[in-house]
Amino acid sequence: MESFGGVLFPGGLHTQESLKLAVDFPFRDTDVLIVSYPKSGTTWMQEIITLILGRGDPHLSHTVPNWARAPWLEHHYFAELQEASSTQPRVFTTHLPNHLLVPALQEPPGSNVKVIYVSRNPKDVAVSFYHFHKLAVFLPEFSTFEEFLHHFLDGRLCYGSWFDHIKGWTDQRRAPSNLLHVTYEEMSLDLSGTIQKVSSYLRRPLVEDEVNSCVKHCSFSSMKVNKMVNYSLVAKDIMDHSKGSFMRKGKVGDWKTMFTEEQDEYFNSVFKSKMDDCALDFVWEE
Ligand code: A3P
Repeated sequence: MESFGGVLFPGGLHTQESLKLAVDFPFRDTDVLIVSYPKSGTTWMQEIITLILGRGDPHLSHTVPNWARAPWLEHHYFAELQEASSTQPRVFTTHLPNHLLVPALQEPPGSNVKVIYVSRNPKDVAVSFYHFHKLAVFLPEFSTFEEFLHHFLDGRLCYGSWFDHIKGWTDQRRAPSNLLHVTYEEMSLDLSGTIQKVSSYLRRPLVEDEVNSCVKHCSFSSMKVNKMVNYSLVAKDIMDHSKGSFMRKGKVGDWKTMFTEEQDEYFNSVFKSKMDDCALDFVWEE
């Protein structure tokens, strides 16, 4: 693992140089930026935005990998990234915490970037991230969920603390003023309504048939079999698909199948102390 700006990153995936370029990225006002803590529904939002920009037409979703449609800021080198996004407007994705990226987002001509922050209840994030550590060769593997949970609650994981991430990006004094906050749970409970909300924010209103087509193509069952988005195209030395599936369960409340009563109590006590100064509400189950 690499440390950059006080946060851990997977050294096998990002370098100091690529991280430095990411935090200094020269945005344009027309850009769209998806921001999330890992396992919060990032890939889902990439798919939703591709479909909205295509007015429900799945052509790009079925022919171009998601990482080319909405490339990761922290993965790329500058020249690559300038050309990377295959959509119009350019769409980028990042897991960077607020303190590392906000300076670049305040700098004209990038101060009007449309930032979409995607969050998910942290118990489901923890379970999904635990399984992802088995699949992702660039992340350390934990032998038990108990051990992983302590790392998660202490913020000793790649991309840092979930608590700092969400608080940084949703605090109105620190976050970009035009940020749209979308939750995994609202996508899950009302996908059509969420697509309309995002399409209005992007100023790309859709008619009913177009919304329905977006819903169809970004459902869990469609995305699970779409190799342009299910990460099956990624080399085995980056993701070992014999260890699990990226599109794993796609559920709200799956944490209940994993947490013991003691783990839940411990989680709740840490959550209460760390989120005391944060007014966000979370949906914990369907
Ligand atoms: P699970 O591991 O709980 O199944 P990210 O893209 O931020 O890494 O998040 C991955 C999580 O989002 C995984 O959660 C994945 O299954 C879920 N996901 C991706 N697409 C989804 C969809 N269309 N519907 C529901 N969940 C989806």
